[in-house]
Amino acid sequence: MAKRTGLTLLCVALFLVAAHCSERRRGPDDCKPVVVAHRGASGYVPEHTTGAYALAVTMGADYVEPDAVMTKDGHIIARHENELSLSTDVAEREEFANRYRTQNINGVPTSGWFSEDFTLAEIKTLRSIERIPNIRPGNARMDGAYDVPTLQEIIDLVRGLEISENRTIGIYPEIKHSTHFQRIGLGMEQPLVDIFHNNGYIGPDAPVYIQSMEVNNLKELKKITNLRLVQLFGANRNSLPFDQAELGTDLTYGKMATPEGLAEIATYASAVGPDKGYIIPRDENDNLASATSFVADAHRVGLQVHPYTFRSENTYLPREFRSSDADHEIGDMQSELRAFIEAGIDGAFVDQPDLLNRLRNNCWIIIPPV
Ligand SMILES: *[C@@H]1O[C@H](CO)[C@@H](O)[C@H](O)[C@H]1NC(C)=O
Repeated sequence: MAKRTGLTLLCVALFLVAAHCSERRRGPDDCKPVVVAHRGASGYVPEHTTGAYALAVTMGADYVEPDAVMTKDGHIIARHENELSLSTDVAEREEFANRYRTQNINGVPTSGWFSEDFTLAEIKTLRSIERIPNIRPGNARMDGAYDVPTLQEIIDLVRGLEISENRTIGIYPEIKHSTHFQRIGLGMEQPLVDIFHNNGYIGPDAPVYIQSMEVNNLKELKKITNLRLVQLFGANRNSLPFDQAELGTDLTYGKMATPEGLAEIATYASAVGPDKGYIIPRDENDNLASATSFVADAHRVGLQVHPYTFRSENTYLPREFRSSDADHEIGDMQSELRAFIEAGIDGAFVDQPDLLNRLRNNCWIIIPPV
């Protein structure tokens, strides 16, 4: 309450100088920890669909998190990977049977149908399907209900929901396979920045974070935008960001997670997105072990810490929080989240954004008295 009075007084004072304060809409960095709806509310609706993003917002998420890949004609669409058969019905579409091929993606031979072989008009004929139907049978019942959204459509959706929710909603895109898309002439960095800038998202106060698993593209992005950047860390400490592997450096994610590595990241990024194991590893029984110094080391150099990915289904939980041996049944993700909040995280990527929002007293959600 004291805080609110303080804010009101500040607004009154500022009002005399500039009439802006009363217009300031509350926004995605006002409630802690920050709820990043991973691929939308992907625990409830097939990932990366307008349905998943909209549900996340009504569940109180601060940011929706689209992954970005490119079409043949240079449009940015939301998919977790450029191989489309994992999350769309492309494999069942006779007219696209001849687009099936095998290519190396980040050094791994991958077979399927690739976004870069399809125009946006063709992609718009596809329907989204659930990627893990065995774990999320409820989502699978919504197969076919949604198409594949473009980044612009997601921005438009968010802008509409901002009016109905009376708050600013953030967007937290991830550039997927940066080096791969650059090599085929579909580099995504500049077009992605252009879309945000053209929609009025400018500067570090805009409700945007741009993430990547690679390093040099983030350093290049720093030169062309003041939007906030996030360095992601692969789960395997001994692996290298793909651009670093191709350059022949020895910059593993493990090195990047040291105090020196984090200090370097702080020169270009505002936040880090580590696999949650960097913060609290699992012990030999697959329970949570003790927290590492990762959060403190990141905070010391001014980086926010947003680990991924929190998911309610037993298969993803530490053993101590599983409800049964059935992988798809729902366990106690909130206890896992509490341990990470205790460890000092600033936000988290969650598939069930409502569960993290409830831990912060349902920020944004007005619950009528009974
Ligand atoms: C919208 O939010 C602002 C605070 O950001 C508040 O002052 C205003 O009363 C809200 N409007 C409605 C209709 O709730």
